[in-house]
Amino acid sequence: MDDFFETVDRKGSDSAKYKRAAAKSDHPDPIALSVADSDYETAPVIKQALRERVGHGAFGYAGAGERFFQAIREWNARRYGLELEKSWILPAPKVLTSIAALVQALSEPGERIAIQTPVYHVFEPLIQSTGRKVAHNPLRIGDTRYEMDLKGLEAQLASGVRIVLLCSPHNPVGRVWSEQELSQLITLCRTYGATLLSDEIHADIIHPDRRFVSAGAFFGEYSKIVLINAPSKTFNIAGLQAAYVVAPDRHIRRRLKEAFQAMHIGAPNVLALRALEAAYEEGDGWVDAQNVHIQRQYERLQAAFADFLPASKIAPLEGTYLAWVDVSSSGMDGAAFTEGLYPYGVVLSPGVQFGGRSQAYVRIALSCSLSRLDEALRRMGDFCRAQMKE
Ligand SMILES: Cc1ncc(COP(=O)(O)O)c(C=O)c1O
Repeated sequence: MDDFFETVDRKGSDSAKYKRAAAKSDHPDPIALSVADSDYETAPVIKQALRERVGHGAFGYAGAGERFFQAIREWNARRYGLELEKSWILPAPKVLTSIAALVQALSEPGERIAIQTPVYHVFEPLIQSTGRKVAHNPLRIGDTRYEMDLKGLEAQLASGVRIVLLCSPHNPVGRVWSEQELSQLITLCRTYGATLLSDEIHADIIHPDRRFVSAGAFFGEYSKIVLINAPSKTFNIAGLQAAYVVAPDRHIRRRLKEAFQAMHIGAPNVLALRALEAAYEEGDGWVDAQNVHIQRQYERLQAAFADFLPASKIAPLEGTYLAWVDVSSSGMDGAAFTEGLYPYGVVLSPGVQFGGRSQAYVRIALSCSLSRLDEALRRMGDFCRAQMKE
């Protein structure tokens, strides 16, 4: 099965992650486990669809056709039991572009938008760059597992917050929110008339024994819920840029369309359209295999840390391919741990960049081949042992 997930050398292929890694580490072969994309090829069905599309040879202006909408509807029905109407779906190039447009369309400058930290590090600057303010609603942590602070959120809603930006599954802490948690969150949003923006870009990357519940499961109960999703993380096609927004509320859709038009934001490009269609039409088996692969990678990581840093704490990985590890037992915070690893040729994401109480953590992307992860863990082990000696 791991044949699907062999290493692709991404150096020299315009990879943002490897460009950044080269700027940080002088090592001749740095392993970057930082930016959330994958170091193996996309699904063969996508490569084939792209080859055919390139063979066509004409790449003029594109617009999403019937097949695009149908592929999204069927994928969401098959995998998540969501019955989406075609008219609810708006094509978009990127999830972040869509969130920025939604924030501008649905709020006024100076308004506060709630986020649950630690969370995907672009949310905060994105909100700020639209002239809105961030209302921090930190997650609560048990021993290693995180939960929403709904009381804290209610206080913010009561004091005027009208938009909640949810990360579901949650990057970087690996939670897949349960139906009950989502139901409580949505009840709060409904009570206060707030809009829930649910970024579900990691939805397909799920522990094989768990089930993803989309906020869209609650469309029947509350219409001010918006899903923002893409096949980009799932299939390692983020560089192609294909995403979509799902909004059952007519007014929200109209405002979002106006915001897209004002910024001249159109559909995904011709190759991205084909990639999304192929992914959603034929990618099920590949995604299921990837989920097994990620679970194995996680177990590998747990075993290695138990050996070289036994008192480290690793958050349970319910979803996403991002491990969240408290490395403070090394005597270093996450930032120092990350910097110390550069000469060893491993690049991680320091927890502090995700906000909240995350100084002790590093985030480690597991979306590489088994042999690549093993090599990265070997280097981390060397680093930890060298630190202990000092
Ligand atoms: C939660 C989350 N949302 C959005 C993105 C970026 O999405 P896009 O590249 O479609 O803008 C990422 C990338 O890591 C992410 O983790």
